[in-house]
Amino acid sequence: MMDYLEVSKKGVKPPKFEKVPKHVAIVMDGNGRWANKRGLTRIEGHKAGEAALLDVVAGAIEAGVSELTVFAFSTENWKRSPEEVRFLMGFNKDVLRARRDQLNHWGVKVRWVGRRPKLWASVIDELEAAQALTNRNKVLTLTMCVNYGSRIEIVDAVNEIALLAAKKKIKPGSITEKSFGKMLSTNPLGDVDLFIRSSGEKRISNFLLWQSAYAELVFSEVLWPDFDRKQLWASIAEYSTRQRRFGGAIDSPKAKPVK
Ligand code: FPP
Repeated sequence: MMDYLEVSKKGVKPPKFEKVPKHVAIVMDGNGRWANKRGLTRIEGHKAGEAALLDVVAGAIEAGVSELTVFAFSTENWKRSPEEVRFLMGFNKDVLRARRDQLNHWGVKVRWVGRRPKLWASVIDELEAAQALTNRNKVLTLTMCVNYGSRIEIVDAVNEIALLAAKKKIKPGSITEKSFGKMLSTNPLGDVDLFIRSSGEKRISNFLLWQSAYAELVFSEVLWPDFDRKQLWASIAEYSTRQRRFGGAIDSPKAKPVK
């Protein structure tokens, strides 16, 4: 098996970044278009996306990112053709099985976030096996969002809170942004610092809506199968140039005081 970290030891090094995002989220988009441009099936595009993901994980480790969250299958992806859905289910399972030792070797902690209903039991088994194997790792947390949708995640949390309130375990009016965030399935992951979408589409597509409230957005024209650690690093470099204000303001030394 090719060791992607070994590749970097042969000369591809990340540049020095002024700021490294702690939590990077990626919508890995463009597999279908990449394949169609080559006269291949969409399925071939997804297959080509696997190496891109592994390279990006390696690049994230090298850059010092500690949380990487990727959108592997959305709650809306069930609308795709039965063949594509079947392929994506099987593929998620196969990729996890084939790569978990590699990821474990790199110190990656794999986590699954998403809903159980509809998701193939064999995929859940594989996700849970990868979680158990890598549970103690600390280098990078790779969260695989499989059967994930942000609105339903928020609605699930609201229903949970309503239930707790009905049981008088929490008081109405006592919920805060912090306590609500803890009810989300991504907890204990922090807010997203850098949100990347490949393939030129400029949408969030129901991914980590709450968590990305103050994320810096970077849209790359590169189709996912062509995305690699260098594209990740370019996105981090772009992030480094952004001034994050979280709703606050920055005083300019030249600004005249308002009278
Ligand atoms: C979006 O491209 C991609 C997906 C819905 C699947 C994501 C899967 C991968 C990147 C393969 C990596 C492997 C795993 C198991 C995570 P698209 O099909 O929407 O492309 P299009 O917009 O060009 O049609």
